[in-house]
Amino acid sequence: MKRTHTCNQLQKRDEGSPVTLMGWIDTVRDHGGIQFVDLRDREGITQVVFDPGHSAFKEDLHHLRPESVIEVSGTVRSRGESEVNPRMATGEIEVAAERLVIHNIAETPPFPLEDERAEKVNEDLRLQYRYLDLRRPGMYRNLRLRNRAAKATRDYLDENGFLEIETPYLFKSTPEGAREFLVPSRLNPGKFYALAQSPQQYKQMLMVAGVERYYSLARCFRDEDLRADRQPEFTQIDLEMSFIEREDMYALIEGMLARIWKETLGVELPLPFPRLSYHEAMNRYGVDKPDTRFSLELQDFSDLFRESSFKVFASTIASGGVVKAFNAKGLADATQGEMRDLENAAKSLGAKGLAFIRVTAEGDWKSPILKFFSEEEKAALCERLGMEPGDLVFFAASEWERACTILGRIRLDSSRLLKTRGRLAIPDEQWNFLWVVDFPLMLFDEEEGRHVAAHHPFTAPVPEDAELLESDPRAVRGQHYDCVLNGMEIAGGSIRIHQPSLQEKVFRDILRIPADLVEERFGYMLKAFRYGAPPHGGIAVGFDRLAALLSGRSHIRDVIAFPKTQRGQDLMNDTPGPVTARQLRPLHIEPVDPED
Ligand code: AMO
Ligand code: AMP
Repeated sequence: MKRTHTCNQLQKRDEGSPVTLMGWIDTVRDHGGIQFVDLRDREGITQVVFDPGHSAFKEDLHHLRPESVIEVSGTVRSRGESEVNPRMATGEIEVAAERLVIHNIAETPPFPLEDERAEKVNEDLRLQYRYLDLRRPGMYRNLRLRNRAAKATRDYLDENGFLEIETPYLFKSTPEGAREFLVPSRLNPGKFYALAQSPQQYKQMLMVAGVERYYSLARCFRDEDLRADRQPEFTQIDLEMSFIEREDMYALIEGMLARIWKETLGVELPLPFPRLSYHEAMNRYGVDKPDTRFSLELQDFSDLFRESSFKVFASTIASGGVVKAFNAKGLADATQGEMRDLENAAKSLGAKGLAFIRVTAEGDWKSPILKFFSEEEKAALCERLGMEPGDLVFFAASEWERACTILGRIRLDSSRLLKTRGRLAIPDEQWNFLWVVDFPLMLFDEEEGRHVAAHHPFTAPVPEDAELLESDPRAVRGQHYDCVLNGMEIAGGSIRIHQPSLQEKVFRDILRIPADLVEERFGYMLKAFRYGAPPHGGIAVGFDRLAALLSGRSHIRDVIAFPKTQRGQDLMNDTPGPVTARQLRPLHIEPVDPED
């Protein structure tokens, strides 16, 4: 079309120029018959003035309604001194309209499209009218930032010799991962595809194929319970490399993230990122994705309470557990309701209770378990936790991992309470990246009575630990790495097993997957490894999470054009929807009544 400028371009120097603008009507104001329209396109806003006396308009001015789409031709003129708007890029000028084409007359939108007011509107309504919600400047900014991050990623990986290769979405069902979406195969009666949870196995096949460096901005599908940072379909920056070690991967990804931050926000990230072992992360922060922007660190008091007269503590330690505590500095004024919420949170993680000590403003200690502490124990607590008036100390006595997890949760919840009280300041633009490494390779699944892969079964053991694989699988560390930013896991990957014998041993002897299932699910992979598999490793960055953090959003829905709700629905078009029995028949599927 014949648009000459965007709505964010015109300046004083354009005075007198004939221009044509196109866009949506943001607002209309009637000043004694003269219509002032703020015309908006994705770039910005320009004020357009319609004089009703102008013969070109006739009856049209009645149709100037918010969100209608118009085309305006006219002449740029300076605004009077008192009308200049310094907060607008085009605030020095306006366009005197001489021609108007109305492309579409809009109905009144169901919610205001102004960022601040729209954010307060029920999200379901905004999702139902997603095309309107995306029209808001804030949402458009998120999409643009995401695009720039993708561009920086592609540029960086291309410069580093990576090939962008697409891998299939229609894959087969594999155990040992998240729940899958199944797709019936019409051409293969009774058989199913599974939508790929990630390109994991294909990218390893690309390494066997000699591609050496692969990447893709891959869509992944997982039928999980959804949360703020989880969608059923999401995007990964997925990559794999041959002939590398862990250190190569850290350097590559640090360089990539630095490039993204530089090109989207203009921020120089300090490199390299700090590293923390899984064990240390759990011990100090109670979680494998610590938010290190504030301290409130956990400490171990098992030695102190071994002989304690508080039986809950002493008996936990005697049976191999630990007592941990941390000081929620400045939270002594937590209300009863807040304390109850914290205790419930702890109990939901298996805590039997949540012991605490409040230090009053006068310096007195208040606690239901105070009577059990000796003077020596009190002095040690006070010193090691730096307890001062106004502090609140929490305890957890349990097995190591559970005690860490409970206090890790209470630490995060406390930080939120402190933030709302203005006692914990976290700057918006603080980027605490870190690598968490040395995860256990295997976890023991009590329900199934066998070991399961902590991440996926292709992760290689740390070489020094490999000999423990059979005797003590839980002591074996995996060559897995997670990248964490401000308490969110943004990436995870590993060096893989490339020897068929070791991979087979893991499937068969450690994970105890029945031989026929190994053959059915992974047989092709073991076969491929027998034809020359290079040492290789990879990683996947959660691109939606990355984009959300870059945009300063706490929810990945805000950086996905068409996200699903918590219940996995697209409210704009009613997805998922019903199908007819006639559609199911050729798929060899018999409908069941969900009511039965
Ligand atoms: P993993 O399962 O850890 O690894 O996924 C990698 C990253 O993807 C993001 N992520 C998600 N983002 C949004 N919604 C979800 N449901 C979701 N699930 C995961 C996280 C996570 O860190 N194939 C391996 C990678 C590898 O080993 O190379 C994999 O998929 O940010
Ligand atoms: P009790 O003796 O069971 O009444 O517990 C005394 C206090 O210790 C209560 O405040 C409980 O919430 C707390 N408590 C009990 N068990 C634990 C535990 N395993 N870890 C931390 N606190 C606990």
